[in-house]
Amino acid sequence: MRKNVIITGSNRGIGRAMLEKFAANGYDVWACARRETEEFLSAIKNLSNDTGASITPIYFDLSDENEIRDGIKKILSEKKNIDVLINNAGVAYGGAFTMTPIKKMREIYEVNVFAQVNIMQLVARKMIRQNSGCIINMCSAAGIFANPGFLAYGSSKAALIWITKMAAKELGRYSIRVNGIAPSFTDTDMGRYNSEEKLKEHLQTMALPPRMLSPREVADAAFYIASDSAAFLTGQVLQLDGGGSA
Ligand SMILES: NC(=O)c1ccc[n+]([C@@H]2O[C@H](COP(=O)([O-])OP(=O)(O)OC[C@H]3O[C@@H](n4cnc5c(N)ncnc54)[C@H](OP(=O)(O)O)[C@@H]3O)[C@@H](O)[C@H]2O)c1
Repeated sequence: MRKNVIITGSNRGIGRAMLEKFAANGYDVWACARRETEEFLSAIKNLSNDTGASITPIYFDLSDENEIRDGIKKILSEKKNIDVLINNAGVAYGGAFTMTPIKKMREIYEVNVFAQVNIMQLVARKMIRQNSGCIINMCSAAGIFANPGFLAYGSSKAALIWITKMAAKELGRYSIRVNGIAPSFTDTDMGRYNSEEKLKEHLQTMALPPRMLSPREVADAAFYIASDSAAFLTGQVLQLDGGGSA
């Protein structure tokens, strides 16, 4: 029997790789994106034809609480089991400590922290009733290593790591697992946005032969965490950084 997964930010980057991985491997998907586009609709249609997965697009902006609530309501109204929630969508911002406006920090926290908690809360209530579920939060190596230039983004991901661990403790009694993935620079629009200098600096810290991570490798890690092979894994943040520290 097919399982069901919600993936936010599934229109591009890591989220798109997750959509492809889960659809091709036994999951029906609520593919969440900020807005409808022709490209996204046609990609979903092709993927659905190729894999046999049912893929339902759901649209909401993570900086708008009402849109989030309406989007998740639509999913819940289908009254299907929610096996997995992947909180993938997120936003980056680079800026020196003294040059980062608090207003900007609020905007980043709105998406990377408050929206993630909001979605987790709405979905966890359903998972509690099911007495099962798996939540995967896209954290970041930037939330573990306090590197310069990442005040807003790094601290928002550090908060998400704490939230992941705390939620795992509270939700464990309902057989809900909560884990995170903390990649380093991944080959997406966001990963490529970093300066050559930052990227070079980071690659030099790697234990493995240096390279950017591919979105598919992150999707593979999420698929493992969602699987029964990881049935005893909770409260963990899987670092995918080639043994580096960026
Ligand atoms: N790439 C990296 O190097 C890296 C490293 C560590 C962690 N991560 C984390 O991995 C996740 C995915 O990153 P990525 O590399 O795939 O980034 P990306 O290519 O920039 O894609 C970001 C995704 O998040 C969505 N998103 C951003 N703000 C949103 C909002 N307000 N409402 C709804 N959707 C929103 C984007 O939608 P739109 O297309 O509408 O903008 C897009 O689907 C993020 O949480 C990121 O922080 C990435």
